[in-house]
Amino acid sequence: MNNFKKILSNLLLLSVFFVSSQKNQSNRLGDTVSDTIPYLKKQGTATQLIVKNKPYLILGGELGNSTFTSLENMVTVWPKLKAMNLNTILAPVFWELIESEEGNFDFRLLDDLLFEARNNNFKIVLLWFGSWKNSMSSHAPAWVKINQKKYPRARDKNGTSQEILSPFSENNLQADRLAFKTLMQHLRDVDGKEQTVIMVQPENEIGMLPSARDYSLMANKKYNSKVPVEFINYITENKKILVPEFYEVWSRNGFRTNGTWEEIFGVGEHTSEIFMAWYFAKYTQEVIAAGKSVYPLPMFVNAALNAKGKQPGEYPSAGPLPHLMDVWKAAAPSIDFLSPDFYNSDFKYWNDLYVRQGNPLFIPEHKFDNTVAGKAAYAIGHYQAMGFSPFSIESSEDPINEPLGKIYNLMYQLTPLITKYQGLNRMDGVLLDKENAGSIVSLGNYEFTFNHSYKLGWEAEAENETWDMAGAIIIQSGNKEFYVAGNGVYVTFKNIKDPNLKVGILKVDEGIFENKKWKVIRHLNGDQTHQGRHLRIFKENYKIQRLELYDYE
Ligand code: DGJ
Repeated sequence: MNNFKKILSNLLLLSVFFVSSQKNQSNRLGDTVSDTIPYLKKQGTATQLIVKNKPYLILGGELGNSTFTSLENMVTVWPKLKAMNLNTILAPVFWELIESEEGNFDFRLLDDLLFEARNNNFKIVLLWFGSWKNSMSSHAPAWVKINQKKYPRARDKNGTSQEILSPFSENNLQADRLAFKTLMQHLRDVDGKEQTVIMVQPENEIGMLPSARDYSLMANKKYNSKVPVEFINYITENKKILVPEFYEVWSRNGFRTNGTWEEIFGVGEHTSEIFMAWYFAKYTQEVIAAGKSVYPLPMFVNAALNAKGKQPGEYPSAGPLPHLMDVWKAAAPSIDFLSPDFYNSDFKYWNDLYVRQGNPLFIPEHKFDNTVAGKAAYAIGHYQAMGFSPFSIESSEDPINEPLGKIYNLMYQLTPLITKYQGLNRMDGVLLDKENAGSIVSLGNYEFTFNHSYKLGWEAEAENETWDMAGAIIIQSGNKEFYVAGNGVYVTFKNIKDPNLKVGILKVDEGIFENKKWKVIRHLNGDQTHQGRHLRIFKENYKIQRLELYDYE
C-alpha cells in the first residue's frame, strides 16, 4: 500500500514538473505559453475578439504586400501607423520565404515582425500567403512551383494549366498543411504568452479564374461523382437558414439529396462554382485544422467581392462569397468567420450579406480612399464589427491629418463603451453622403434622425457637387444618456415610446475620455446646438459629444 502511494505521488510530481516545465519553456523572444490565448466570444448578437481576457476592437490597417519583407523597409512605416492611431496591423507571412527549401523553416522575418510590433505597441493579424493569394499561387515556394508533376495546377475549361495549385491534389494539401502547422507551432512557442498575434487569416482571397472550376482530370472525376453526403446532410439540416441565393439554386431541381453536382444543382456555371467552393473550402479546412491543432487562434478567410452581373468564371469564383456561405460553412467548420474585402463602393449591400447567419463582421481590407473614416465608424457602430482595416495603410502621405486616424482616435477612446454594449441593442452607426444624406436610428425610447451636416448649408463644401462621406456612431449609456462620435452630422430626436411627448436637450458636452474617464472640454447648449434644436458635429471636426435628453409636453 505504501509503495503504491509512493508511486502515485511520484507520478503526480512528475506530471506537475512536466506541465510547469512546458509552461516555462522560453524561447528566443523570451516568451512562454500562457493559459488563455485570444478567442471569440458571443455577446448578444455580436462576436467579440477576446485578447488577454478583454474584448478587443481592431483599429487596423493592412500593410502592402511587399512592405514587411525587410526591417529596413519598415523604419518609416511604424511612425505613420502610430500617427494614424492604429492598434493592429494586418501583415503577411509568405510560404516561399519561410520554407524556401522543402522541410527547412526559417522564421527570422516573422520573429523580427513580432519583435518590432511589440516594441511599437501593435497587435498583429497574421495573413498566411500559402497555397493561394488573390486566386494565384504566387507565394508557393520554388520547389512547389517547379515540380508541377508532384504539385499539380488547376486547369481552365480548355485544359490549360494555371498558376493556381489544384485543391484536388493531396500533395498540395499536405505541403501547405505542414508549412502552416509548423508556422502555428512556432507562433505558439514564440508568442503564446505575449500574444502579439491575435488572429490569423489562412490563405488570401481564394478564387478560381478564368473558369469557374478546375478542369484537371482529378477535378473532372470529382465533378462527375456524387455530391458528398456530408454536404447534403449539412444543407438538409440547415435548410431553414440557408442563404436565399443558395436555397433558390437547390430548389430548382426539387431539393434533390442524391446525385452528381449537376443532378442536384443543375447544369451551369453556378454549379461549377458551388462544386469548386466545396473543394477549396475542404482544403482550407484541413490547413486550418492542422494549424489550430497546435495553436488554436481565431481564424477567418477573406473574399474578393464579385462585380454585380458577372458570371462565375468572370470573377475570382468559389471563394468565401456570401452566396456560397453555406458551402463554406458546411465544408470548413474550423473557419470562425468569412470576411469581405472592399474595392467597390457598395458597402452596406455587401455587409448586409455577410452578417447573415450570425457571421461576425471584420473588414480586413478596404481600399484606402477618402471614405474609410466614415466607414470605420459605421461598421463598428451599425454592424458591431470586430474591426476595420484599410489596405496599403502605409501609403498615407499625411498620416497626422488622415481622417482615419481621427476616427480611430475617437474609437479608441470609446472602446470600453463600445465593447460593453456591442450586440446588446445599445449602439448604432450612420454613413451619409449627398445621395444618402439622412438616416434614422432607434435606441431605447428614442429615435434619432441623423443628417449630413452639409444639409444645413452652413459649411462652404455644401456647394460641392459631391459630398465627402460622413460617419458617426451612437451609444446609449443610460436611459436618456448617449454618446455620439464622428463627423459631418447633425441629429434631432423623437420619443417613440410616447409620441405625445416632445424631446429636448438637457445637456450636450464635447469632451474626451482620459484614462477611461469622461472629461468635458466644452459645454455646448448655445449656438453649437442651434439653441437646443440639434446635436451637431461639423465635417472638419472629429469629436465625441455626450448627450442628455429630457421629455416635455
Ligand atoms: C486584395 C488582396 O487581398 C491584397 O493582398 C492586394 O493584392 C490588394 N487586393 C490589391 O490592391
